[in-house]
Amino acid sequence: MKTLLEKKEKRERIVMITAYDTITARLVDEAGVDVILVGDSLGMVLLGYSSTLQVTMDDMVRHVAAVARAEPRAMIVGDMPFMSYEASVSEAVHNAGKLLAAGADAVKIEGGGESYGDVIRALRRAGIPVMAHVGLTPQRYKLLGGYRLMGKTASEALEVIRDAIAAEEEGAFAVVIEFTAWEVAKTITEKLSIPTICIGSGPYCDGQVLVVHDALGLTPNPPPFTKQYANLAETIRGAVEQYAREVREGVFPDEKRYWGMKKGEYGKLIDMLENGKEHRNHFRLKYNK
Ligand code: KIV
Repeated sequence: MKTLLEKKEKRERIVMITAYDTITARLVDEAGVDVILVGDSLGMVLLGYSSTLQVTMDDMVRHVAAVARAEPRAMIVGDMPFMSYEASVSEAVHNAGKLLAAGADAVKIEGGGESYGDVIRALRRAGIPVMAHVGLTPQRYKLLGGYRLMGKTASEALEVIRDAIAAEEEGAFAVVIEFTAWEVAKTITEKLSIPTICIGSGPYCDGQVLVVHDALGLTPNPPPFTKQYANLAETIRGAVEQYAREVREGVFPDEKRYWGMKKGEYGKLIDMLENGKEHRNHFRLKYNK
């Protein structure tokens, strides 16, 4: 948290990206990101759900633990899934504790200090660092009227800004700002002393976050604000097509990729099978004699 705060003070941009498994966490950590978010976006990009609403605490604990096994240098933030913090403060504390026990360094809730100030305060009191999330909060897409740009009007912008300011006041250590008008994100970034990390909210933030599957070109319909830095879908499809072709043509496995018995043992085996009791037993079993 101290490092992220120092980065804001020095105007060094913070890099956050999602990861949900050990191998990807290791790779993004080696690439030098500051924060790995085990986002509930895993419901859509990994598990094939149409929204994040079906993601459970068990899903989050499993994937936070997988990322933690990579032992990254980067901070691990675990997302609190839908209905793990909304119903009561005590449930929120227990569930956040499960993510920390699984290896997260901090948790993220969708909401700021106006909407979830009591939760932020309680988590902080329990010793759990909290990242808030304002603007478009996908767990509330039904209430918001879909996945839409937030803060296009002055009154809606003010609501988002107030939620972010209150998040800092209640004790959040950082705020994600998702899909707001850039002016909203800029205002929040200037007003807060904790870092802001943006997705789809423009460049005037202390950091940026992307869903790793979007950045790597693995999602068929990524949101318009993401950028594709690789086309892994094409690479994977091409590699698997080649593998299938080679299996069908008998090219794979080639002689470098299979191993035989010790010299002379195969002859002995044939002999055993043809003349030994293994042959008689097999014969007896086969014909029930
Ligand atoms: O779940 C997620 O990946 C997120 C990011 C989009 C910020 O919340």
